[in-house]
Amino acid sequence: MTAPSDGGFPQIDTGPPSPARVYNYVIGGKDHFAIDRAVALGVNQHFPEGVDAGRNNRLFLYRAVRFLARDAGIRQFLDLGSGLPTQNNVHEVAQQFQPDAAVVYVDNDPAVRAHGSALLAKDDKNTAILDADMVDLDDILARPETRRLLDLSKPVAVLFLSVGHFITDDATLQGMIDKVFDTVVPGSYVAFTQMVGVDQQAVDEAHAKLLAFVQMNWKNRLSSDVVRLLRRWEPVEPGLVDITHWRPDPDQPPLPEVDEPLRQFVGASQRNKRLFEFGGIVRKPAS
Ligand SMILES: C[S@@+](CC[C@H](N)C(=O)[O-])C[C@H]1O[C@@H](n2cnc3c(N)ncnc32)[C@H](O)[C@@H]1O
Repeated sequence: MTAPSDGGFPQIDTGPPSPARVYNYVIGGKDHFAIDRAVALGVNQHFPEGVDAGRNNRLFLYRAVRFLARDAGIRQFLDLGSGLPTQNNVHEVAQQFQPDAAVVYVDNDPAVRAHGSALLAKDDKNTAILDADMVDLDDILARPETRRLLDLSKPVAVLFLSVGHFITDDATLQGMIDKVFDTVVPGSYVAFTQMVGVDQQAVDEAHAKLLAFVQMNWKNRLSSDVVRLLRRWEPVEPGLVDITHWRPDPDQPPLPEVDEPLRQFVGASQRNKRLFEFGGIVRKPAS
């Protein structure tokens, strides 16, 4: 598919919308095409709380990585479905508190690899970006970059931030989380968020409307499903919650402002919140 040209620039064959670029648009990033902006606007016509959900997730990422590096002393991170680099990327936040923190980023979107490599070229000693399917943890763990940067005999944090809904099969997602549990040492952490509905009706409506509109692999769940997925782990205070309630910090660095067409949706979740990002941080207990 060819996207409409933008401001007189030549037409670019952008292909279908990319979840990484749609999310990048919502959180105020700069790496998106007209097709991604059209999808973000269309989805939010149906679910105006979507912009807040995406932005709240990115704000949670900062608080979660800060907690893991500063308070839990974690110095190695595996970021599954890392998205396009923007501001306050995981290695930048972690290295504020643990200057030698190592981060392995994983994404299967080619744009992430291109943009990520440019950003990480500045820090190829402690960071790497893998073009890989996050479902295939064996492949990820066997890659030379992972073996160089992550020492799995020591605690590690594995991030599943706003990615659970891309794994539509429950058993596959459970298998990924269990595989992490069985691989990492006690004292390791998982940070997990995913889009959930307030009830089954909200989940079903979202599927009917969103999937008719965007052909993406996507599965909203219920908060009880997320709690079940993480039942082997020990939640860190305040537990698994609507992430706006996870250690909120009005003084944390703000996100870049959204583009003008999305402004109408900012704050919509205060009026109507049928879908939201749910999750938190959990720890592998001592056996
Ligand atoms: C909504 S973004 C989240 C980005 C980041 N984790 C954050 O919270 O800011 C989801 C990302 O997951 C990636 N993704 C989806 N399915 C994936 C898969 N099977 N393997 C690797 N990455 C995937 C998408 O390309 C996208 O960049």
